[in-house]
Amino acid sequence: MNEGLQSCAVRVPATTGNLGPGFDCLGLALDLWNEARFVLGGEGVVVDVHGEGADRLPRDAENLTAQAALRVFAEAGKAPPAGLRIDCRVSVPLASGLGSSSTAVVAGLLGANELLGRPFGRDKLLEMAADFEGHPDNVAAALFGGLTIVVRKGDRLLTKKILVPDVHVALAVPDLSFSTRTARAGLPTEVAMTDAVFNLGRTPLVVEALRTGDFELLGQVMDDRLHQANRLALIPGGRAAWLAAQRAGAAAVAISGSGPSLIAFVSLASDAGSVARAMSDAFAAEGVAARPLGLTASAAGATVVRG
Ligand code: HSE
Repeated sequence: MNEGLQSCAVRVPATTGNLGPGFDCLGLALDLWNEARFVLGGEGVVVDVHGEGADRLPRDAENLTAQAALRVFAEAGKAPPAGLRIDCRVSVPLASGLGSSSTAVVAGLLGANELLGRPFGRDKLLEMAADFEGHPDNVAAALFGGLTIVVRKGDRLLTKKILVPDVHVALAVPDLSFSTRTARAGLPTEVAMTDAVFNLGRTPLVVEALRTGDFELLGQVMDDRLHQANRLALIPGGRAAWLAAQRAGAAAVAISGSGPSLIAFVSLASDAGSVARAMSDAFAAEGVAARPLGLTASAAGATVVRG
């Protein structure tokens, strides 16, 4: 316990959810980090934002990181702090399918939990984060790092973290406004048994392929029949970018989370840049600006940095 901390800082990784067939169950942490520093004092809640979204993210108690932090105070039975300053350094593109809102929520929960002397363990923080977010796959990966499997069991979440060897990915982040809510609205509420079985068999094989670094297997099993076709139809240039990644040598391609970013898995780190560029060029050819990114998976999840 570290009662009475006046300040702390946390860093939280980007995540990619679903990984093809593992809809709402699989998440992978990526080595792209958002940071937030919390300082008690002053008056009211003041948030400063640098980097992604600096021009539009709220700078008061409406900010998602602040909301999450205040939730921890309430959950712990504490009065909200008279003054709280939060400095956010945001590197994860917003509304891109890279878990940006999960990072904001997890940062707020972890930071406030630290300021209060850690009244809650990570499992409780996961429940609270999933409550905020609605879908636990991104928040589980952000909190625990690595490849996470998460399922709901009654009112609890069960998670398992799987350590994966070096996993290199290429991403294209199109400049499209695309909320998870929109991306879920187009999904069916019922699915055919054959489609469920299709995903059921492939999901553990995706886990096994990532765990063992078997990219040939990954390429054979990272298919989905529950969500990606509907979503790809909503992403202008998405199909072209997908094909471009395959032509450029990607082992497997998926929509990252609920999109609109595409994520391609490459067996050689040196291929990540060219595959990412092939995808972003394909988006551009269809009139959609897209940022190429080459990243690796992160075994570490959200981390507290004191001081
Ligand atoms: N599993 C979620 C979805 C990702 O596909 O909608 C966002 O948390």
